[in-house]
Amino acid sequence: EDHDVVGKYKQRLLVVANRLPVSANRTGEDSWSLEISAGGLVSALLGVKAFEARWIGWAGVNVPDEVGQKALTKALAEKRCIPVFLEEEIVHQYYNGYCNNILWPLFHYLALPQEDRLATTRSFQSQFLAYEKANQMFADVVNQHYEEGDVVWCHDYHLMFLPKCLKEHNSKMKVGWFLHTPFPSSEIHRTLPSRSELLLSVLAADLVGFHTYDYARHFVSACTRILGLEGTPYGVEYQGKLTRVAAFPIGIDSGRFIRALDLPQVQKHIQELQERFKGRKVMLGVDRLDMIKGIPQKILAFEKFLEENAYWRDKVVLLQIAVPTRTDVPEYQKLTSQVHEIVGRINGRFGSLTSVPINHLDRSLDFHELCALYAVTDVALVTSLRDGMNLVSYEFVACQEKKKGVLILSEFAGAAQSLGAGAILVNPWNITDVASAIARALNMEPEEREKRHNHNFLHVKSHTAQEWAGTFVSELNDTVIEAQLRTRQ
Ligand code: G6P
Repeated sequence: EDHDVVGKYKQRLLVVANRLPVSANRTGEDSWSLEISAGGLVSALLGVKAFEARWIGWAGVNVPDEVGQKALTKALAEKRCIPVFLEEEIVHQYYNGYCNNILWPLFHYLALPQEDRLATTRSFQSQFLAYEKANQMFADVVNQHYEEGDVVWCHDYHLMFLPKCLKEHNSKMKVGWFLHTPFPSSEIHRTLPSRSELLLSVLAADLVGFHTYDYARHFVSACTRILGLEGTPYGVEYQGKLTRVAAFPIGIDSGRFIRALDLPQVQKHIQELQERFKGRKVMLGVDRLDMIKGIPQKILAFEKFLEENAYWRDKVVLLQIAVPTRTDVPEYQKLTSQVHEIVGRINGRFGSLTSVPINHLDRSLDFHELCALYAVTDVALVTSLRDGMNLVSYEFVACQEKKKGVLILSEFAGAAQSLGAGAILVNPWNITDVASAIARALNMEPEEREKRHNHNFLHVKSHTAQEWAGTFVSELNDTVIEAQLRTRQ
């Protein structure tokens, strides 16, 4: 199993991310059921066949007892997953607190309301300590499973402290760190009380990657301005060594989506959906129910569109799939009720006895349903206020070879840099702008739709998740070899 089909040795890869790519449900004292969970990183790495990858991460559940921990470890091992067990209090302070209430909004340029801001400032120190502690717990598990020559690839804002913990333990370990969110302007990053600690730890990695060149540039300038370190086009000079910093835009396993469209069960879903929405254009939003996704703003823009375009009122439907996430964080709870309130109001205002303009679902769809939905969509609305990349836009494009629908895309999503030429780009804060983009998309001539779609389809097909991961890991190997050569000289 350590060799691929042509007998080449597969490189061992330890992928460390806060969340494992499976969700675990306890079915008995020593039994668990596991389900592969969706999400950007998960779908990206599922497609990587060139490595012998193991995942290390939190299983997303509290398992206080040893019997449960043992059983879960065993079940996860079959999926090549290794759990990090975090106690409830740590999860509260590290995950809900520092990660999702401090770093997440800050990295997406979103301010907290005044009262929360004060509360956050007060709890900052204890949450940061929990963050350091949790990162050390991840490092301990990595160290237990590490074998010489392994590549250790750390992911995301949850684990900014991990490269330092790993390198302190073993300076020879090959360590990469990749951020899936934006890295904000240094002016934002420097408001963070632990700004220097986080930068210094990330710099302990050999290779630091971001989705776009802008995020990489922001990181380098934060190191220059906050730490006074020298930045070069290749990275940052730190303690006599160069930490390589570069952009690696992620993609999807596009083949998986394209192939799925031919499956009988997907075809069946497609027919059902076509029947159900006959005579109406389908507009689609698929987002985690997160404030960065700009769901209320999107729905308000749709309302404005209906207000201004009476002709379309009974000829269009907006399907909004809002996948619940981080439901223990109060900001997310507030968002849920806010969205429900707006959807209810608009449906009351423009609905009839037989139909409503917005179908809103608070749940995720299975892969086949999702593919079918993408395939029947006329206009997709990806209007994040900020987004590291946004792979929903890629998934939509992959499923549109027949229909050649229009993608309306936020200029603040990383994907705007790769799919911008084929999409209609909008400022999601400007609902007038988004409303007119909707009108433009619905009225677009087939030739223009085809031209735009072809452009994006080519990109999505040729920039895959496999290629992304392969490039990152080989660049990491090269960086380490170059550094070794340099020290020998
Ligand atoms: C974003 C983050 C991921 C995270 C995912 C789901 O895409 O970049 O690291 O796993 O959201 O969020 P959750 O908090 O449920 O893991």
